[in-house]
Amino acid sequence: MVIAPSILAGDFSKFGRELKRVEKTVTNWVHLDVMDGHFVPNLTFGPQVVANARPHTDLFFDTHLMCSKPEILLEPFANAGSDLITVHVELEDQVSSLLWKIKSLNKQVGLAVNPPTAIDKVKPFLEKVDLLLIMTVNPGFGGQSFIEECIPKIQQVYNWREEMGLDFRIEVDGGVNLKTAAECARAGANTFVAGSALFGQRSLARAVKKMHKVTTQVSDGYLK
Ligand code: DX5
Ligand code: ZN
Repeated sequence: MVIAPSILAGDFSKFGRELKRVEKTVTNWVHLDVMDGHFVPNLTFGPQVVANARPHTDLFFDTHLMCSKPEILLEPFANAGSDLITVHVELEDQVSSLLWKIKSLNKQVGLAVNPPTAIDKVKPFLEKVDLLLIMTVNPGFGGQSFIEECIPKIQQVYNWREEMGLDFRIEVDGGVNLKTAAECARAGANTFVAGSALFGQRSLARAVKKMHKVTTQVSDGYLK
């Protein structure tokens, strides 16, 4: 089980310090939300911020591009030090070439799907990804409520992965707290992005540990 604290819920004026806080937890992942003000109605940061952070940490940079034109950002983020780059299946015709481009930059390949989008859309790409991200809120802002209707999508993707003999990670993102993380783990998720539920706690380290424990317990009792 991997917990990926989302820096979106941290203090952007203390980016480096927030990364250090994540480093002191049991996880080695951090989730970086890149928003372009077009694909989603919010703006965050670009590759320069990631490049500046890279020399200061060995954390795995799980980079989620919520952008209409990710093709212009893949190389900059790869050079900046992203470890995994996720693009959205809603970009339709471009998806194939985007996934290929990420792979050719020697980065792990992620594909995300929004709540209103049919899960069948991701099926043709499953053999090409290292991570499938099932959004459990409409992307753009932290602190929204988990959309329960997304749970069957996790189960569907888990079943496809088993049938096809693949081993990509199944990640969930949005409204993930201890309760909803357990539900997602029960459905087959093994990677959990959480912002406000973790950064909102006094001890980030304790919150990450607890989420790791809860999700691991669920999967030990159910998935194996
Ligand atoms: C939502 C982002 C998420 C966000 C989750 O658009 O993709 O990664 O940080 O935040 P919480 O956990 O607060 O819902
Ligand atoms: Zn995200």
